Amino acid sequence: MRLEAAPDGAPDVVGGLLLSRDQIASRVREMGEAITTDYTGREVVLVTVLRGGLFFLSDLCRAVADPIRLDFMAISSYGAPVQAGGVRITKDLDENIEGRDVLIVEDIIDTGLTLNYLLGMLRARGPRSLEVAVLLDRDQRRIADVPIAYRGFHMPDTFAVGYGLDLHGRYRNLPYIGSVREDVLHGVGSA
Ligand code: PRP
Repeated sequence: MRLEAAPDGAPDVVGGLLLSRDQIASRVREMGEAITTDYTGREVVLVTVLRGGLFFLSDLCRAVADPIRLDFMAISSYGAPVQAGGVRITKDLDENIEGRDVLIVEDIIDTGLTLNYLLGMLRARGPRSLEVAVLLDRDQRRIADVPIAYRGFHMPDTFAVGYGLDLHGRYRNLPYIGSVREDVLHGVGSA
């Protein structure tokens, strides 16, 4: 992943372009094709954790040729580390996943602790299969080793916004993924 100049009209906080709209679209299409091939004849339930994964989910599910089902979860960490048990499910799945083929769809994996927690919890519900699709794998801070069946991109240790990623709740709707300026992250510039 190379850092290019920020797109015209980018918000001030964006210092450079990490992934363009076209790069994302083309990789997501490939991931959808791989999922279509792997799940031929099986109905997969795509499970996304709100909120950042929504954008990736929306494009990925439309790149899968066969019928799929969607379900959503939301968790709150209270700002405490996941491994310290500071996780609460604020919205659980609506569907029973026992005996189903389940694919967790995440925008980004960092420490891996969120996914590790989710995998353990969902595995206990007896799905037929349970896999992970992630757009961005930022593995420099990995603590929990989570299995990733479908990976979009390896990502540098850079704070990024766009395509679901936020800075204080903003910029999720940028159609590309941009890096955030260092001075903004260190509180010198404005966000
Ligand atoms: C992001 C992402 C994962 C989690 C990954 O969510 O969607 O759920 O962080 O981090 P980890 O690997 O270190 O556990 P975030 O908490 O930013 O919430 P959001 O999706 O609402 O932006």
